[in-house]
Parts: sequence; structure tokens; C-alpha cells
Amino acid sequence: MTLVGVAVGAALAIVAVFIPWLPDAASDQAGIVDSVYWVVTIICVVVFAVVAGVSAYAVYKFRAPPGDMDDGSPIHGHTGLEIVWTLIPTVLVLGIAIYSGVALAQAEDVPSDHRTIQVTAVQFAWTFTYPDIDVEGKPLTTGELVLPIDQTVRFEITSNDVIHSFWVPEWRMKQDAVQGITTRTTVKPTKLGTFPVICTELCGLGHALMRSQAVVLSEEDFNAWVEEQKRLAREGGAIQGRELFTQQCGSCHTLAGAGTQAEVGPNLDDALQGQNADFIRESIVDPSAQIASGYQDGVMPANFGETLTQPQLDGLVEYLLEATGGGAR
Ligand code: CUA
Repeated sequence: MTLVGVAVGAALAIVAVFIPWLPDAASDQAGIVDSVYWVVTIICVVVFAVVAGVSAYAVYKFRAPPGDMDDGSPIHGHTGLEIVWTLIPTVLVLGIAIYSGVALAQAEDVPSDHRTIQVTAVQFAWTFTYPDIDVEGKPLTTGELVLPIDQTVRFEITSNDVIHSFWVPEWRMKQDAVQGITTRTTVKPTKLGTFPVICTELCGLGHALMRSQAVVLSEEDFNAWVEEQKRLAREGGAIQGRELFTQQCGSCHTLAGAGTQAEVGPNLDDALQGQNADFIRESIVDPSAQIASGYQDGVMPANFGETLTQPQLDGLVEYLLEATGGGAR
């Protein structure tokens, strides 16, 4: 029996060691969080092995012989044992608490040269605002998070409706988005690439679809991206409109021309078919004005009139007219 146990244990250990349990670690904070995770996991594995081992031994050693219908002999407490099994967990739990607290303080440490990005959650989309990047008199706002590598970012997170939660698994840090307050978290991305932005708080029917992307670029590419956003915002036009649509509207609306398939809001191939520019513009800036049948008021963010510049709005309307074969222009 011992041999079988050892063989099974060895096989499981090999499997356990070779499975990549955690997502790629793509931020400074990921290393800190992973250390805490593994230290706690190893402590739990050891505690579980000791408890399970002693239990299995006791079941085997002290089992009743066949036919024995007696009650077990009465046992009183054992002060020594009780002290030991109170002390060990107390020390473990206090140790883990202190260690985690130090790790959290480390992860949330913000250097003075950090960048601030505001994250706004609505059912069911993310908006990212860069308060220090001015685009045609407004702070740059996108539906996709774009960051330069190796620069600490302080996220200021809020919600316009219910509670959501901002999470990029590869960065590990996770923070709730709550209406009326600003929560914060810190990330220093250390890997180039595209990572999912996930809502990790059940927030309604579209919760599972409430996703965006975090794109980490080199500093040079990031600056080029910022210039491109400025240029697009200046020029407007249908090409920019299409880009805006995929970034800010595509996570909720289906539009064949843009290749989006979300079903949170009305399918625009149907809803905008043959509609004119005025209707489209009104639907964007004042979504409560006319509600498509079968859909609820207050789901679509009502602040696009504020976050989009005039050329952006014009470009979006122009693109939607083109894409849905709109009528009177
Ligand atoms: Cu937003 Cu789940």
C-alpha cells in the first residue's frame, strides 16, 4: 500500500510541476503576486499532506476489528496537543498576513514619474482616458488600453452603473469599479504584446462579453500611436469612424461591415438600415431619445457626446451611414 501511495504521489507531483498553472507574468507586480501565491500554496500542500497522512494512519491503525460493536473508550482533551494545534495555525496565518501585506504595499508602490489612466466601466464596455494627452481640446479616450512598456501606470477606476472589476490576468492586479468612488491599482507592464482586459465581477447579461484589450508597445511605438490618435481626431472621416467603432462600439453591437458580433445592444445592420445621419447622431449622443424595441433604456453609455470630439463623431456617423447603406444624407 505504501508503495502504491508513493508511486501515485510521484506521478501527481510530476504532473503538478509541469503544468503551467499561472498565466504569463507580464508586469513587475506579477512576480510579487506569484510569490505570495506559491508560498501560500506550498504551506497549504504541506498542511494538507500532514493532516491527510495522520488521518489515513489513524483510520488504518485504530480501526475496529470485525464484529466489535462496542463504543470507543472515552477520551478527554489533551492540553499539550491543543496548545500545539492552536499555536501552529496562529503563527501560519499571522505570517501569511504580514507577508501578503508587505507584498501588496510593494506592488502598489507608485514612483513619482508614473502615468495616470482613468478606467470607466459601464454595462458592458471599458473606456480608457489619458488625462495628460490632449486631443483637440479633450483628453484622449479609447476603448482599448494602450501603454508604453516599463512605465508605471496608476489606474483610477470607476463605474457608471453597477459594480465591475478591472483585470488583466497577465498583470495579476485586479480592482473593483464602483459607481461614485475611485479605486486605484498600479501596474508596470514588462512585456510587449496584447493581453485581454476582463470584467471579473458578475455585472449583468453582457458580463462575459465585457472585454477589451491591453496593448503594450515600446515607448517609440506608443508615441507614434498617440500622434496617430491626434491625427485621426483632427481629420475625422469614415476611416477613423471605422476604427472608433471597433474600439468603442463593437463590444456591444453587431455590424457586418466592421466584423463585430456582440449582442448587448441592437444589431446595427438592422437598426440603422436606411436611417439618416441625424438619427444615427442622435442615437450616439442621446441613446435614450429612441429606444429600439426589445432593448432597455440606460444600458448604452450616455456620454459619447462628451468623450468624442466633433470630428470623431462626424467620422463615426459617416462610417455608420456608409456601412448600413443609410438613406437621406
Ligand atoms: Cu462588467 Cu462583469
